[in-house]
Amino acid sequence: MAERIVLAYSGGLATSVAVRWLIEQHGAEVIAVAVDVGQDAEADAASWEKVRQRALAAGAVESVVIDARREFAEEFCVPAVLANAKYENKYPLVSALSRPLIVRHLVAEARKHRADTVAHGCTGKGNDQVRFEVGTRSLAPDLEVVAPARGWGMSREDAVAYAAKWDIPIETTVEKIYSIDENLWGRSIECGAIEDPWARPPDDAYTLTRITTDAPASVVVSFESGVPVALDGEPLDVAAIIGRLGAIAGARGFGRVDAVESRRVGIKSREIYECPGALALIAAHADLEDMTLEHDMSHEKLRLEHRWAELVYDGMWFSPLKEALDAFIVRSQRHVTGEVRLRIEAPGLCTVEGRKSPVALYDPELATYDARDTFRHQDSEGFVRIFGLGVANWAARQERGDRS
Ligand code: ARG
Repeated sequence: MAERIVLAYSGGLATSVAVRWLIEQHGAEVIAVAVDVGQDAEADAASWEKVRQRALAAGAVESVVIDARREFAEEFCVPAVLANAKYENKYPLVSALSRPLIVRHLVAEARKHRADTVAHGCTGKGNDQVRFEVGTRSLAPDLEVVAPARGWGMSREDAVAYAAKWDIPIETTVEKIYSIDENLWGRSIECGAIEDPWARPPDDAYTLTRITTDAPASVVVSFESGVPVALDGEPLDVAAIIGRLGAIAGARGFGRVDAVESRRVGIKSREIYECPGALALIAAHADLEDMTLEHDMSHEKLRLEHRWAELVYDGMWFSPLKEALDAFIVRSQRHVTGEVRLRIEAPGLCTVEGRKSPVALYDPELATYDARDTFRHQDSEGFVRIFGLGVANWAARQERGDRS
């Protein structure tokens, strides 16, 4: 029996060429799997059917499209909100977040179709190859992974010619300016003029954050145990909240990230992102945590959030440490319930202007400086003296008194 390979299929040039290449080079039967994670907000059933058919035209024995938008929102974007996840404090993990979900579907399809190998179309320079391979191996250590684009040595022109030779109906042959990866959580943009870290990113690189209105917006986001549940009091599912908030914020130019990023493979790369919904939600969620998380919990979580983002960036979604951190994070969210009011205005501003929670740790009688004050001022004298005792002792005995 021929080797059966399940290929992560996007419908683009590289993965379409990969279908034929795997047939020719491996003598394999290829099962193309396209996963809809919201990469094209305008895509409908007909356009996904076109993607499905293209893989068949390229020679796949089976071609499936999986609508994973809801799963992506609930099982991947929600944990990213709970973790306030931003790699290197900037990048909300757009591409890194979708890969483990795609991997999960690839592995399930591999089992279903009795395939022994999984394939992806990534090159050797990026993080996505790491995520596909490490992810696959952590779910299914018995599966092989192949990455044809890492070894075939084809330029874009070569790939276009290869597609023409095999009658693979690719959409466009014009020069591609940017490498783009998009999903419900945002948009990653690489290559072209962006590669010069000194150059201002060209305006045409952005699509989700073009300013189309001057009118400021005020939006109330409600959370229950850390999970976004409503916008302006209207209960909505998470995907709808991300989409609506993203549209409001994007139209006011909010959500751009320009970063020089440390890739897992050792390269520093200049990347830009547009994540209006993701960044607005994280800003609101983190603020509500300030209102509801106890002091030590709040500080410890901040440290672990960084690690969580790093693990996800590095393709360790299914790792034991990531699982354990998830347990910590979910436990931390028990009382992160309440509302946050965001003010969003052009050009690109999103600020928290108000927050409230039925379980807020903010106590007006403790915090106030007016007559309602119930704080026991006299208790502070002993507390502060003992808190400073260690350094006072050090100053007196080792630094010999006056150091001013
Ligand atoms: N640098 C980002 C990351 O590693 C974006 C990757 C975008 N991927 C792509 N195939 N264009 O997550």
